[in-house]
This record gives sequence, C-alpha cells and structure tokens, in this order.
Amino acid sequence: MRTSILIVSLFLFGTIAAQKQTLFHETYRPQFHFTPSKNWMNDPNGLVYKNGLYHLFFQHNPFGNVWGHMSWGHATSKDLIHWDELPVAIAEENGIMIFSGSAVLDKNNTSGFANAKNSQPLVAIYTGHTDTLQTQNLAFSNDEGLTWKKYAGNPVLNLHKKDFRDPNVFWYEPKQEWIMAVSQPNEHQISFYASGNLMQWKKLSDFGPRGDTSGVWECPDLMQVPIEGEAGKTKWVLFTSQNSTMQYFVGEFDGIQFLEDHPSTTIHKQDHGTDYYAAVAYHNTIDKQPISIGWVNNWEYANAIPTKPWKSAMSLPRKLSVKKQEGDWVLVQQPIGALTSLRGPEQHAADKNLKQNLLLPFSGSSYELSLQMQSQPNAVAGIRVAMGAYGYFEIGYDSKTEQIYIDRSHTVNDFNKKYAAIAKSGTILKPENGKITLRIFVDASIVEVYSADGTVVLTAQVFSEKTEKYIQLFSDGAATQFKNIRFWQMKSIR
Ligand code: FRU
Repeated sequence: MRTSILIVSLFLFGTIAAQKQTLFHETYRPQFHFTPSKNWMNDPNGLVYKNGLYHLFFQHNPFGNVWGHMSWGHATSKDLIHWDELPVAIAEENGIMIFSGSAVLDKNNTSGFANAKNSQPLVAIYTGHTDTLQTQNLAFSNDEGLTWKKYAGNPVLNLHKKDFRDPNVFWYEPKQEWIMAVSQPNEHQISFYASGNLMQWKKLSDFGPRGDTSGVWECPDLMQVPIEGEAGKTKWVLFTSQNSTMQYFVGEFDGIQFLEDHPSTTIHKQDHGTDYYAAVAYHNTIDKQPISIGWVNNWEYANAIPTKPWKSAMSLPRKLSVKKQEGDWVLVQQPIGALTSLRGPEQHAADKNLKQNLLLPFSGSSYELSLQMQSQPNAVAGIRVAMGAYGYFEIGYDSKTEQIYIDRSHTVNDFNKKYAAIAKSGTILKPENGKITLRIFVDASIVEVYSADGTVVLTAQVFSEKTEKYIQLFSDGAATQFKNIRFWQMKSIR
C-alpha cells in the first residue's frame, strides 16, 4: 500500500515538475514577447499607467484556446517587458461579452466611482456585445485594477446598432472633458463623443470614410504624438484597424473634430507585415510619450495557428513619434529602449561583400540582430532566419523594385490554407544613401523588422522548430555589401 502511494506521489510530483518546466518553454512560445500562460488572446485593451504599473488588459477566452466568451484578461508590468498575469479582470456575464475598449485613470473622480476621499479609480470603457447589439459600457476598480465592478447604469452609449464598438477614451485638457473615439465599422467611420463624467456622452463629429475602406473599421486610437527633433511639439494621430492591417492619419484635433493634414490617396500603414492588428497606445505615460502595443496575429487564420496551450502574442512595446518625409507626415516606431536590458553579450560578424549565401557565426531562437546592406542594382538580398531542416524565413530587399519584404513561404505552413496563402508581405522603401538598415527581433514564432529609422516596420508569425536556428545572408542577381552585423541573444522574461 505504502509503496503504491509512494509510486503515485512520485509520478504526480514528476508530472507537475515536468509541467512547470515546459510552461512558457513550449515549442513556438516567445520568450520576450507577452503571451498569456494559457488560452486565447486577441486585441490589447485598456492600456493605462498608474502608480508605477503599466496595465495591459486583453481580449481573452478564459475557457479555451479559440475565440469565444470574450472577457478582459489582465497583466501588469513595471517596465513594459516583464509581465505578471493576473486573474480575469472583466468577465462575460449574462450572455454579454466584453469586447475591446480602453481604461482611464479618473484622477479627479469625475465618475464618482472612488470609494474613498482622494482615491483615484480606474475606469474601463468597453463594448458590451451580443449577436444583435453592441453598446458602450463602464466598469471600475478601486484596488489597482485587481477587481472590477460593472456600472449599474450600463450601457452609457447605445445607438441600437449591431455594429458599434471599441471605445477609446482620453482626457482632453483644454476643455477639461473626456473624449471618446468609437468605431462605426460598416460605415468606415470613427465617431467622436464628449463627456464630463464618463456616463453622459454628447456627439461631436465623425471622421471617414477615408483611406483603406476594404474592411470594417475597428479599434480606433487618437493621441498626441511628438514630432521628431522638435521638442514639445506634437501632431494628432488617428489609428484604425481593418482587414488584417492598420492605417493611420496625421492631423489636428480641436476638441470637436479630427482633420487630416494632407488628405491624400496614399494609405499610411502602421506595419507592413502579415501579423499586426488592433494596436493601441498608453496615452498617460509619465513623459507623455505614447507607447503602443499590437496583437501579433491575423483574423484570416488566427484560430488555426499551431500553438498550445495559448494563442497569440503582443508585439514589443513601440515608442511613437512622427516626422515629415517628402512633404508628408510619417509615423516613426521604435521598440522601447529598456529592451536592451535583455541583451546578452554583443557578437559581431565581419563586413562582407557577397554574391552568394553565407551562414553567420551565430544562431538562436530568441535574439536581436542588426545590420546594414548596400546593394548593387538588380540585387535581391537580405537575411534568412529560423533556418534549418524545414526551411527559412526570409527578410529581403529587392533593389530593382525598391521593395522591402518578408517571406515565409519556405517555412512550415501546411496547418492552414489561408496562412499558407498569406506568405509574403512588403512595401516600397527608398534606400538612404544607397543603404538599407535592418533591426530584427526573432522570438521563437515572432519576427519584428524595423527599418529606415522606424518609418517602416514589418511584423510576422513563423512556426519553425527550435532546431531551425541558423542565420544566413544572401544576395542574388548582383553583389551586396553587408556591414555592421551585430547580434545579441535575448534573455527570457520568464
Ligand atoms: C478586433 C475586434 C474588435 C472587437 C474584438 C472582439 O480584433 O474584432 O473590433 O471588439 O476584436 O474580440
């Protein structure tokens, strides 16, 4: 009897220990991007900073690893790099799902939700979703976001529409009131509302249709973004998500309406990869620097990606600014500086003038890599990462068409037809003095590429085995000069 108890407990102990060992180190699990420990995740929600903590809420299914039972999951971080996952913050209830939205720190207790004198509640503004109706609702927390109560007077905004969602609220200082940007998805419009107390809302204006109207508009975010090199100066930038990609408009907001500066036919995309959607930003950081986080997945195949027991990751947090380029405003995105604290020792490879392929002297599955390329006309050149028995992921530049691209057609893609069909993605990029610079983050199943000082970013998922860890330079058609090749293993945040 005793022996069998001993055997059973040894077995159980062994299993628990094995589980502990593998959780967060499963195949495809990113090591320095946020992922929930288990179950489904989509959009980032309610990004808000309070008392030294960054709160990240997210669309979450607490019961399974596919979309459903949408609720707000929750994690917090002191540095936007290391995250603690907390219990579900706002749960689906009575058949009403908790769709995307934002959260604010109600410093002056305009809502009256504070439970003590001088306390500052967090208030979430989210879409309540049923199959026939979407409305805007409030929930509040007086314990630093740990527990939430839904407001008894919900909904606070109801147009009796099936599609009306993703409220994004911020404090507008000049008028001392709250502004809400909220999506009218099928009309390709963002509507603006104002309120003194987060409960009564009056309509201000609409923006759109404009730019990319090929898919329903979702997840608006409007914020003031610093102008590069002009201390203290800002522009207003409006972001929307549609059809698996994001776009932005740069202009001015006067407390009533948002007007684009150079209305043009050019569509400005925030990210040119295959997997970047629903990004929103922290607006109330200490230095007022907006920092955005996006969902690294694509609705075309999001539920089918081969990861378990979790699905989806968030992007690296990106510092946002704008600059003028050829008479037009462009968005600049840079991964937050603190990420360099995860770097291992720096490794170099010698400069190379290449007309063929060359394996680099370092390898890994979670790392940062930077380099510069100078191509001769007609060269298609770049770098292949996640190389191994099953293929490679290519990041390239075609100097003839002036296109920067990512290509995952040489990786495992047979788990889903739509994923396989969306293999290549890119955009025009003019070389600067003939040079292309690349800063690349590879993290198991995620690749983020920053080029041209952060004005061109490409994010993608790739499902390669841990043995596919080699890195190769390539140059086809003509020679390419590769310079300043630097590499850092990245430490795990787990
Ligand atoms: C965007 C979105 C939002 C919605 C949420 C539901 O990815 O479709 O419009 O609120 O996901 O999970």
